[in-house]
Amino acid sequence: MPEVMIIGGDGLLGTAMAMRCDDLGLSFVQTSRRKGNTLHFDLRHPNNNLPNAKLVYLFAGVTSIQACDDDPTATHAINVQGIASVAKQYVERGSHVIFPSTSLVFDGTHRTPGIDHPIRPRTTYGKQKAEAERQLMTIGHSGPGSVSIVRLSKVLTQQVSLIEQWRKQLHAGQTIKAYRDRYVAPLPCAQAIDALLNIGLNQKPGIYHLSGPAGCTYADLAVAIAKAMGVDEKMIRSVDCKNALPAVGYTALGDCTQTNHESTGTAPPHPPHLPHPPRLPRPSAVTLAGIAKALACPV
Ligand SMILES: NC(=O)c1ccc[n+]([C@@H]2O[C@H](COP(=O)([O-])OP(=O)(O)OC[C@H]3O[C@@H](n4cnc5c(N)ncnc54)[C@H](OP(=O)(O)O)[C@@H]3O)[C@@H](O)[C@H]2O)c1
Repeated sequence: MPEVMIIGGDGLLGTAMAMRCDDLGLSFVQTSRRKGNTLHFDLRHPNNNLPNAKLVYLFAGVTSIQACDDDPTATHAINVQGIASVAKQYVERGSHVIFPSTSLVFDGTHRTPGIDHPIRPRTTYGKQKAEAERQLMTIGHSGPGSVSIVRLSKVLTQQVSLIEQWRKQLHAGQTIKAYRDRYVAPLPCAQAIDALLNIGLNQKPGIYHLSGPAGCTYADLAVAIAKAMGVDEKMIRSVDCKNALPAVGYTALGDCTQTNHESTGTAPPHPPHLPHPPRLPRPSAVTLAGIAKALACPV
């Protein structure tokens, strides 16, 4: 039996998780809805034929806010019904299921909502993730397996198209425009993946928050990246968004988890049948300048 099942292996987090499992020597299987060597699986037609695994990461889904607004019914079938169906089959088989959720389950009025902050999503995507969370919590409680919900702020890598575009333009000596009226709480992908693995390998059910720094706008992030690249910050033009992106308010999270037991001393006993989880930096050690440096460094 593989240790890790990655449902949705082609996306940002699924690809990064597969690479990290490979690095750590964890056996894994990825699903995809594309043709290729991976296991074919589509959340629109979930079946019971997926292989067993100890840990199951549910990365598949429609992640575009616009796509969810455009077709709430079809995306609900994927993001809620499909996800709940896979979670149920794995919890019934005794697996630990990890579901990445989002800060958009909150209404964006609080700078750093904690785990118990009222759920009040404003977007269709956020509503679907909130409903999936509710269903998965119920499924997790029915056992024999268990569920962890991990709410994430915005996960970024150098390959995310906005960052790639900014870097290219700044390298070429071009000015870039960045929104001063839209918040982003950038979370480095590598950190998100190690935290997700840490939570999975510790097999502790519940709700977790992982977030980049609060109060940072896209313009702040662009300036930090420019500085990290050694480019004059005057190359960043702070502009108003004018509805190009939905106004979702604050997007950072509070009560961020210290999943590394070595930094807290409070982690559960490690299950003997699983490898030890990767170490994590303390959330407070992750600064905007540090994140910008990671996003800016030459590939
Ligand atoms: N990235 C973030 O900043 C962030 C933040 C908070 C939460 N999350 C959550 O983390 C998870 C992964 O995010 P991500 O950024 O890796 O997303 P992503 O890059 O958009 O990848 C989503 C994956 O889901 C697959 N998919 C879409 N519809 C499907 C269907 N009907 N059946 C099976 N697979 C389907 C896509 O397949 P194709 O490639 O074939 O289209 C893609 O591989 C999502 O649940 C997202 O809500 C992400």
